[in-house]
Amino acid sequence: MNAMPNQVRIVEVGARDGLQNEKTIVPTQVKIELIDRLSDSGLQTIEATSFVSPKWIPQLADAADVYTAIKKKPGVRYPVLVPNLQGYERARAVGATEVAIFAAASEAFSRKNINASIDESIERFLPVLERAQADHVAVRGYISTVLGCPYQGEVPIADVVRVAKRLRDLGCYEISLGDTIGIGTPVKARAMLAAVAKQVPMAALAVHFHDTRGQALANILACLELGVAVIDASVSGAGGCPYAHGASGNVATEDVAYMLHGMGISTGINMEKLVANGRWLSERLGRANNSKVGLAIA
Ligand code: HMG
Ligand code: MG
Repeated sequence: MNAMPNQVRIVEVGARDGLQNEKTIVPTQVKIELIDRLSDSGLQTIEATSFVSPKWIPQLADAADVYTAIKKKPGVRYPVLVPNLQGYERARAVGATEVAIFAAASEAFSRKNINASIDESIERFLPVLERAQADHVAVRGYISTVLGCPYQGEVPIADVVRVAKRLRDLGCYEISLGDTIGIGTPVKARAMLAAVAKQVPMAALAVHFHDTRGQALANILACLELGVAVIDASVSGAGGCPYAHGASGNVATEDVAYMLHGMGISTGINMEKLVANGRWLSERLGRANNSKVGLAIA
């Protein structure tokens, strides 16, 4: 228990992980306003969009317009997802200073999501990592399917550890461990994190839970007890991966912040503003708010 952090940095992924999975394409202006509102709610890191192939993710085809128009609040970081050098160059052309790359722990998922094996996908990122280092651009690394895969089922912990260590050795400053389909439970989540933390320092790890089966907060608590201090979340619980059947929303940022604040762990987030933003987004998307806290306070 004494590993529990006093402070947690929440990485808000709603504008990317949330909106990439919407059935209808959200207007560019709504995306911009969402990010500006989130910047005003005390979040320190807001993943703004992704520069992936618009054929694969048409929902975020307006990445350059969104990134250009958002007000960059001093002290707030706005990373963007890139799948290859082409994406990196598009991101840099509009001034992005932090990017995120993504690999999977499951071979089958890697092929569906990015049309490449795990090793091929890491190879594909080498030029991105080289360029980023030369440009002084920080790189975050995601690993998907760390607790199970929609195509292959079980994912051995050793595979997660191998990919995490490789991404860290290649220069990722932080590795976000993603339960893409929200299949994990607390004891398994803790065992996976503990194994990775033997190879990558805990301070360089983040957790990324989708809440498909309502396990996300329990999993986060189990991981907090091991000392993880960076948590990905999505305002109003928006989200999912279009290439992971059954992946529903990310854990809601409001719910994570409420739990952390109640445990005396600070996040810098203004709860009232965050809840209002979640409500605002649900109204714009025309769907239910997936945040329990958002509903209770609303
Ligand atoms: P591909 O079709 O194998 O690639 O896609 P390609 O290199 O053959 O290119 C095909 C076409 O796409 C070409 O255009 C390229 O120019 C274009 P054409 O010649 O046919 O006109 N293209 C691009 N255009 C714009 N920007 C680019 C880009 N790259 C190629 N960056 C590729 C391979 C990786 C590009 C594709 O599979 C892709 O973009 N996949 C992205 C899938 C995705 O975004 N998934 C969701 C994110 S991951 C996630 O959500 C999980 C996470 O949240 C963690 C968790 O929950 O676990 C991070
Ligand atoms: Mg995700």
